[in-house]
Amino acid sequence: MPQIDEEVLAERMLSAARRHGAQLPRHIPKELHQRSRFENVLIIGTRGGLGSELLAQLLVHPSVLKVYALNRVHQDGKTPKRRQGDEFRFRGIKPSLLESSNLVLLEGDISETHLGLQEDQFREIAETVTAIILNGWRVNFASPLHDFEPAMAGTRQLIEMALASPHRNPPRFIFSSTIGIFQNVDTRNPMREIPVEDPRVTISMGYRESKWVIEQMLTAAAEAGLSSCSVRIGQITGNVNGAWGMQEWFPATLKSSQVIGCLPMDYRAVNWIPAQLAARAMIELIESDEPIVHLVHTQSIPFTDILRVAQRMVGVPVVSQVEWLRRLESYAEINTSREARRHAPAVRMLPFFRQLMALEKQDDEYEAMAMPRVSTERLKNGAPCMVSPPPVSEEEIRRWIQHWQSAGFLAHQSDRLSHLSKL
Ligand SMILES: NC(=O)c1ccc[n+]([C@@H]2O[C@H](COP(=O)([O-])OP(=O)(O)OC[C@H]3O[C@@H](n4cnc5c(N)ncnc54)[C@H](OP(=O)(O)O)[C@@H]3O)[C@@H](O)[C@H]2O)c1
Repeated sequence: MPQIDEEVLAERMLSAARRHGAQLPRHIPKELHQRSRFENVLIIGTRGGLGSELLAQLLVHPSVLKVYALNRVHQDGKTPKRRQGDEFRFRGIKPSLLESSNLVLLEGDISETHLGLQEDQFREIAETVTAIILNGWRVNFASPLHDFEPAMAGTRQLIEMALASPHRNPPRFIFSSTIGIFQNVDTRNPMREIPVEDPRVTISMGYRESKWVIEQMLTAAAEAGLSSCSVRIGQITGNVNGAWGMQEWFPATLKSSQVIGCLPMDYRAVNWIPAQLAARAMIELIESDEPIVHLVHTQSIPFTDILRVAQRMVGVPVVSQVEWLRRLESYAEINTSREARRHAPAVRMLPFFRQLMALEKQDDEYEAMAMPRVSTERLKNGAPCMVSPPPVSEEEIRRWIQHWQSAGFLAHQSDRLSHLSKL
């Protein structure tokens, strides 16, 4: 594939931010009295690890009167309630929460007119909503920025809806961003919770670039009166029962390690955050006025704590990252069939692993797996639950691995050799 010039990519990001963030109408209040931000919450994207937790916690929140949960239409013959119930069950959340009279489950799409809803339904939401959580996003690392155009236009529509609110203050706007926007940082100081002006810091994949664009739009919307928070999320781990998407890089690492016979060493810290704690923090941020925070665990643990459990349950030794990558690369060279790659899904993500394990990012200035170090002062200020949360426990780590084992994704330690002989 031809390499696209960095300046061209940066210009595309800037132009998207200008196009979608320009000339936002100022908020003009029609009411005098102050409403609680928790009154009526609109959340977009309530399936998936974080979205399910957000919805579950909003439904039991004592100050939330109504939750509008908007998800895309799926042609799977299920009702929205059944689909959400299945998602909850899979993630160890009680489906009976969906019986709450506070819940309005909606099907639509932010990129369609009126969010894809009937006009009267849209009006009702636009006139009553006091907080918006934009969580659903195309989590696809292969798509270029252009593919996120409908999502960026849809976010503009949501921002305009918020600014047109009759309330004294427009709804608080919470956006699930990513610390991946620091992809190309070259400073060794922890990243601060402030806007990233230079798009070149983020250039890498359309997914991260689109999050950068939305952050710029929200900064522009502040001028028009919107109170927003770009929540730059780090690595989210499993739900309460350990459910953690098998398509993600960490489970792919473990599965591939069973095939290539080793796990990659890292002695540095991880600040991975369980979905339940991340959701709690995001809900607390509704009440704060922080504009940008880094949502990572504030009590990090050494990666070796995870490796110790993984090594026991997965049944392979730990080697250096250089050796792990070498073995994965040589596996990829020899085993080109689709079936062989299914057994070692990290092969599909080789460029990503080369970045994670880059030699120049092996020092203590980075977190484990070359994750950038980020400050969390504003997070702790806006979300009290993040001041001293319990660190990720050995029991939680065991639950993720058990989840992948019982789904048949990972072999049990005792079965690994017989599993390998069938490859
Ligand atoms: N997990 C992490 O470690 C992490 C890290 C940084 C940021 N984040 C952000 O946190 C949010 C939730 O992540 P997650 O881990 O819970 O992801 P997930 O499990 O993959 O769920 C993604 C959510 O987005 C929706 N969605 C998927 N494709 C969409 C599209 N094209 N348009 C609109 N909605 C779409 C999904 O709904 P459907 O059922 O309709 O597909 C689902 O509700 C995302 O915005 C993600 O970028 C997550």
